[in-house]
Amino acid sequence: MVAHLSFSTPKPPPNRAQQIFSHLTDRIDREQRKRPLGLVSNFVADQLPHRIAEIKDSKRPDEGVKALGRSINAMIASADYEVQLLNLPQPDFAIAKTDIHYLVNCAYQMSAFAGLHPVEAELTVGEELSRLARLSCHRQPSIEVLSYEDMILTNPVQSDPRVYCLGAAGVEERDFCLGHQLIESELQLAIEALLELRDTAEADAGHCLAVCLECLESAKFILTRFYEHMSPDLFGQFRVFYGKNPYKNRLGPSGRFSARIVAVSVLLVGDDLFQQKPQFYRDVYRLSEYYPHECINEVFRWLSPGNASAELTPAWLKGKADFPRSATISPVIKRHGNEIAKLCASCVYALDQFTRMHRITALKYTVEPGRPIVGVEASESVEAVLSQRLLTGARF
Ligand code: HEM
Repeated sequence: MVAHLSFSTPKPPPNRAQQIFSHLTDRIDREQRKRPLGLVSNFVADQLPHRIAEIKDSKRPDEGVKALGRSINAMIASADYEVQLLNLPQPDFAIAKTDIHYLVNCAYQMSAFAGLHPVEAELTVGEELSRLARLSCHRQPSIEVLSYEDMILTNPVQSDPRVYCLGAAGVEERDFCLGHQLIESELQLAIEALLELRDTAEADAGHCLAVCLECLESAKFILTRFYEHMSPDLFGQFRVFYGKNPYKNRLGPSGRFSARIVAVSVLLVGDDLFQQKPQFYRDVYRLSEYYPHECINEVFRWLSPGNASAELTPAWLKGKADFPRSATISPVIKRHGNEIAKLCASCVYALDQFTRMHRITALKYTVEPGRPIVGVEASESVEAVLSQRLLTGARF
């Protein structure tokens, strides 16, 4: 994930975060078009929200969604998109894969909206689109649903966003993705600082921790904008598209699958998390295919030092070995004095504040009375998931 450590990664301009959810405009300006799959990408970026709105307004949504499926499949059949897809350079390929999965997800979610039977839903998704989707997951091993990586990390939200809604709801949807993306940038910088501290003998511990602290506070600031400024009604309009697949036992994209939150948590409090919340680790391993592949595998390698099959449940999680503290910064902190321990405690506190802020945000928007809960396995309560990284007691 982070092969070369540097603090030079450009930070997003600070006003970017202040602009999200400003509700000053109800249209999206597309600064720079990103259309790796030609007509198919054009369709996703320019037409899909209109087609969805028409179906929602129509008297026969079932006919509308079937017609949408037919036109998407006819478009794909009209050119050799399989060859195009396989020949794209990696950054373009990632956007192309995102376009394809936006279409597949749309076909399933709209089929459910129109009350289609599972067989009809599969016919709506169609052979051509399904084949292209499978091929994209073959080239870049990933789960065969719209993933957090597609929606947040790859979606070109700053220049040519992919969204499902029109007008103000589409702008809110774009800002929802953008807010996540800005938080991901902060987390990335925090990870780089913590890795430098953990892995480089001559690292300036004070500087690394100060960078980490600043990034975590900044991430919390962005999350606070969600809480204070995102419109619950507009959120309700787009979130239905990002829920569980209504026909398959597959979760939808969720911040839960931010591998960077897992990485920061492991680096800062990995051993305490294991002592207090082993379920957190069980869930990460159980749901590993939903996370961005490269980043989560890197974390798994830290957690299974010297083990080639790092993605399999490690012995320590089965109670057969000690937790690998070398994955965390704890051994390094122990070698320093009080000042560094205090700075580290501030980082732990900042991460905890972020998690608590997230919890109240999630409760405000998704669990309040009357709001349906989507995206969570029936066997697990939202409350349990939202508390899975909350620790009790001070540490250093
Ligand atoms: C208004 C904004 C948000 C809402 C309503 C929300 C809602 C939720 C809900 C309902 C869950 C429970 C599991 C699920 O449904 O998938 C969840 C989990 C989670 N979300 Fe969010 N979320 C929001 C923003 C974010 C952001 C910006 C991030 C940062 C990347 C994030 C990261 C997480 C994480 C890491 C979990 C797993 C629980 C944990 O480890 O704390 N969420 N979220």
